[in-house]
Amino acid sequence: MSKKFGFGVLGCGSIAHIAHFPSIAKTEGAELVACCDVSEEQASKAADQWGAKHWFTDHNEMYEKCDGLDAVIIATPNNVHRNQAIGAAKRGLHVVVEKPLAITNTEAWDIVNACREHKVKLMVGCDRRFWTHNQWAKKLIEDGVIGEVLMSRASLHEHWHNYQNHVAHTDFRLDCSVAGGAAISDTGAHAIDLLTWLNGQKVKRVVGVAQRAAMPESYTQCDDLAWAMLEFENGSTAVVHCNRFSHAVSQSTDLWGTEGTIHTATDATNPFQSVPMAVFTNKDYNEEDLPQILKDYRWPQVFWVEDRIHRPLQKRWIPIVPPRSPNNYERMCEHFMGCLMRDEEPLVSGDDGARAIEVMCGVFKSMETGGWVDLPLKEEVVPPHYKPLPKEE
Ligand SMILES: NC(=O)c1ccc[n+]([C@@H]2O[C@H](COP(=O)([O-])OP(=O)(O)OC[C@H]3O[C@@H](n4cnc5c(N)ncnc54)[C@H](O)[C@@H]3O)[C@@H](O)[C@H]2O)c1
Repeated sequence: MSKKFGFGVLGCGSIAHIAHFPSIAKTEGAELVACCDVSEEQASKAADQWGAKHWFTDHNEMYEKCDGLDAVIIATPNNVHRNQAIGAAKRGLHVVVEKPLAITNTEAWDIVNACREHKVKLMVGCDRRFWTHNQWAKKLIEDGVIGEVLMSRASLHEHWHNYQNHVAHTDFRLDCSVAGGAAISDTGAHAIDLLTWLNGQKVKRVVGVAQRAAMPESYTQCDDLAWAMLEFENGSTAVVHCNRFSHAVSQSTDLWGTEGTIHTATDATNPFQSVPMAVFTNKDYNEEDLPQILKDYRWPQVFWVEDRIHRPLQKRWIPIVPPRSPNNYERMCEHFMGCLMRDEEPLVSGDDGARAIEVMCGVFKSMETGGWVDLPLKEEVVPPHYKPLPKEE
């Protein structure tokens, strides 16, 4: 049997256990070789639970001593992403970095440049792109089903307590000197990435607000309310809004085009619909001409009578229920391995991750200037209360 592809996981906390360990276990040809965590207990327990031969408490030691590693997944607190990713790249290891790629724009581009210099693949863990309905939304937009997208919106609202009290293994998120932000960089990281990808555009300029509005400073200094307005290079505009105080979790994305609208909602309940995706198109389709995704997955299927009466089809919201398996993280892991085998650029590239950090830092900058901020930024922007670690040489 050919050699398996060896993964090391850094940070054996909540997302490693929810997403990365199970995905590696389910992906054919992938093998978990090593677990690394500053907590000896977390590292050894994870190795035991998920069948890794080795465990470490220091990433450099893992990089130097561990045989059989091809890639690492970095699922540690945000402030250590830069040094851990660059260290891996220098040793020729391919890298997946959890979102946010980093905290400052300089940190983010340092990671991208190191991976480029050492010719290793870099992917950012923005799993929203791997949800089937978001991939279908992307395809329908590219196929022109909703015309030219002129406006869009993405959101993720979720109370601190939901994740912090029930899922997270540590409280790094509450410490702004380590996490560097919350509504904008934790939940916002997903919304910004999804929106820019679905639009297929780079952000030209940004204006926004990221502030602590709900929780006392004794709980956290991080922002818990964020708005960002983005203008893309093609002139279309978008809004991202996120918070960390809504007890009801809601997450949704809308794209308004000249010929229709698409709504998707990912991993949270949302009050607007009961399906993960809905499409309205103003185009004249007969049943047999419908884009394949709409034909196969719209609900209810009305081919029996309505589709025969209405030619072209009646214009209405079309609810779509995509298959749920394999899940987003399994698809992401399989995709990354495929990129390595075929020498292709991962779907969420390092450049994408760094541009998302530019947007977040642009919001903090616009809080200072009170106006639009052009991207890319001309200097490093360090979010309030964040204390960057020195770059390891
Ligand atoms: N894609 C997603 O939806 C998603 C969800 C959750 C977390 N994340 C990201 O994953 C990362 C980790 O978040 P989490 O919720 O799993 O955190 P967590 O607190 O649950 O776990 C973090 C783990 O990292 C360990 N750690 C801390 N410093 C370390 C270091 N220097 N080297 C090795 N291990 C170290 C801790 O001991 C802990 O076990 C963050 O960047 C976060 O934004 C992404």
